[in-house]
Amino acid sequence: MNVRIAGTGSALPGKILTNTELEQLVDTSDEWITTRTGIKERRIAVEGEYTSTFAAEAGRRAMEMAGVHPEEIDLIILGTVTPDFPFPSTACIVQDLLGATNATAFDLSAACSGFIFGLSIAEKYIRSGAARKILVIGAEVLSRIVDWQDRNTCVLFGDGAGAVVLEASDGDHSLLSTHTFSNGSYWNLLYQPGSGSRNPATNSRTIDERLIYLKMEGNDVFKHAVRSMEEAAVKALDANGLSASDLTLMIPHQANRRIIDATAKRLGLGADRLFTNLEKYGNTSSASIPIALDEANRQGLLKPDNKLLVVAFGGGFTYGSALINW
Ligand code: COA
Repeated sequence: MNVRIAGTGSALPGKILTNTELEQLVDTSDEWITTRTGIKERRIAVEGEYTSTFAAEAGRRAMEMAGVHPEEIDLIILGTVTPDFPFPSTACIVQDLLGATNATAFDLSAACSGFIFGLSIAEKYIRSGAARKILVIGAEVLSRIVDWQDRNTCVLFGDGAGAVVLEASDGDHSLLSTHTFSNGSYWNLLYQPGSGSRNPATNSRTIDERLIYLKMEGNDVFKHAVRSMEEAAVKALDANGLSASDLTLMIPHQANRRIIDATAKRLGLGADRLFTNLEKYGNTSSASIPIALDEANRQGLLKPDNKLLVVAFGGGFTYGSALINW
């Protein structure tokens, strides 16, 4: 049984926060952010907007493109590090919002690799015959865990969601492979110390020491990101007997333009075969790849039999890739 992407969708907050506006919040400049990251602006959720808001809308748009009704969905997998609540899962809230009454729904925690980990699990559900139609979503409201007093991190992240409908198929236009990896030795280079069982939100120290916010060792993360994304990309190419020159497009996790360029250079991929939109949205973690995939798809950049590689890296560390014959 093959697995194909039947539809894509994305949803973003309407509110834009530009680099120039950030200059009012922290000691930074449009010039620094642009040259070090490639990011120009990001989207920020407003009051009344949650991770489930964008996740459900992205899912609805993906189902609309696929021509699939909510009751046909067997499984909803939602990658996020910013769920609406610690429990229940945001996937269950999305199930309710969409009316996907026949679905099993759960969240998946793999940080910025959440969407690719979700694809990998969904692929196995379909290949084993356990499900036929699956909604895989990456959705984040990172602005609620970013420290708006920390210029090292607050300039990098944004909010939004992307989704795909995967379905069982007999055709060749399919997901060729998925690969996932974890390296827990580095869990404390990119994490949110507070609000879990180690530093509960009910503990005043968690608030006083700003443990509630995302922490990152940017330089170390940068180096690991380049090496790991290259490794995941090579694994995908090797598994399919392909080389970088066979790729029509690579959609990498949208964290930093310099990470993307360094990875592409190691793979020998020219800028003409890279899709990026981080200048508009910043790093939206698990949402970055499905948002970019939806934009590339709706812009008509993907034609039948094109080879598409998606590759991600995130906290954990986690990393992974998926190769798709479009
Ligand atoms: N504006 C102005 N200056 C800033 C700044 C900002 N927003 N953020 C950091 N700086 C300063 C630092 O304080 C440092 O100053 P110092 O030398 O006086 O201490 C200086 O800029 C250089 O910092 P450095 O960390 O060497 O910069 P960098 O070139 O490594 O870029 C990142 C920093 C965060 C952009 C980069 O390390 C990065 O992108 N890392 C990966 C982050 C990421 O993608 N994480 C998610 C992975 S899924």
